[in-house]
Amino acid sequence: MKFAGKLAATAGLAVALFLNAAEDVSAKNFKMAVGDAHGSAQHALGEKFVELFEAKTGGKHTAKMFLNGQLGSEQDTVNEAAIGTLDFSILAINNITPFSPTVGVFTLPYVILSLEDAEKLTQGEIGQELVDNTLRDAGVRIVGWTYTGFRVLTNSKKPIKTLEDLDGVVVRVPKNEIMIDTYKSWGINPTPMAWSETFTALQQKVVDGQDNPYLTVHSMKFYEVQKYVTAIRYIFSIEPLIVSEAVFQDMDEDVQKAVIEAGKEATLHSANHLRESEAAIREDLLAKGMQIDEPADGEKEWIEKATTAVWPKYYDSIGGVDKLNTVLTSLGRDPVKE
Ligand code: MLT
Repeated sequence: MKFAGKLAATAGLAVALFLNAAEDVSAKNFKMAVGDAHGSAQHALGEKFVELFEAKTGGKHTAKMFLNGQLGSEQDTVNEAAIGTLDFSILAINNITPFSPTVGVFTLPYVILSLEDAEKLTQGEIGQELVDNTLRDAGVRIVGWTYTGFRVLTNSKKPIKTLEDLDGVVVRVPKNEIMIDTYKSWGINPTPMAWSETFTALQQKVVDGQDNPYLTVHSMKFYEVQKYVTAIRYIFSIEPLIVSEAVFQDMDEDVQKAVIEAGKEATLHSANHLRESEAAIREDLLAKGMQIDEPADGEKEWIEKATTAVWPKYYDSIGGVDKLNTVLTSLGRDPVKE
């Protein structure tokens, strides 16, 4: 090869190397905090999201999940994402409510009565409004929804069927006023505690019980430290995938599009995952030695006490009684009268 040809080939190689290096610099590996363990509903949504997101960016960008609250308590991850030091987080909706109170409408007891209710609310206009509110109030954007099922009550002390049975049982709840007030309406003072501390507190008997869905009880191995389950249905657990708005605004438009699309598709996957896995997981908890009881009298007293005491107290923070009525009527239920 003549000198000029060699020079051109070397220059071409240098340009290619430079472009590759430039590509590498813009490629990102996003961090995703996950409150729950491997095998949880949060993990299933996160895994699907990562797979879709990476495929949609042609493998240029990646995301890595950090399970079991490795990146901090669920509520701390909202703060981290708000200031842009964390990219993504998957966490229970009740741990977002303190930062954006209107989201509390999804935590009010006995509002969401099925997976279908949860899908309808989160994927429709009401869900979009709550996405906008969370963005405004907390600086994080909800891009996906995990559906985890009803939060059942577990404890290590005794079978609980009636509200009287709750007497003397110390129950951990998230640091969420609505949930604290719900237990108060049932006659006990619960113990607010971060999720990341809950397993140890149950193990060391600092608290006797807690509530979370079957999928969470199973993936967190609560059957090792809890015996009794009461199949209450007061909150249907919804666990959003949030992205830091600061990080989102820093992304190119096509990457933003990949995040939004992957979030929507992962949401549909989450609903199917719950439909397909919940019954078997419940069976496995029985096989592992847990005892599952139904609340007495079709849960009537639990429902009546909670809705009467808690709903009116939160009308203002969720945006007025009309907001609750919009939710109820959209689910084909009767509105409440003030
Ligand atoms: C909580 O109880 O704080 C949450 O539901 C935990 C979770 O994210 O599963």
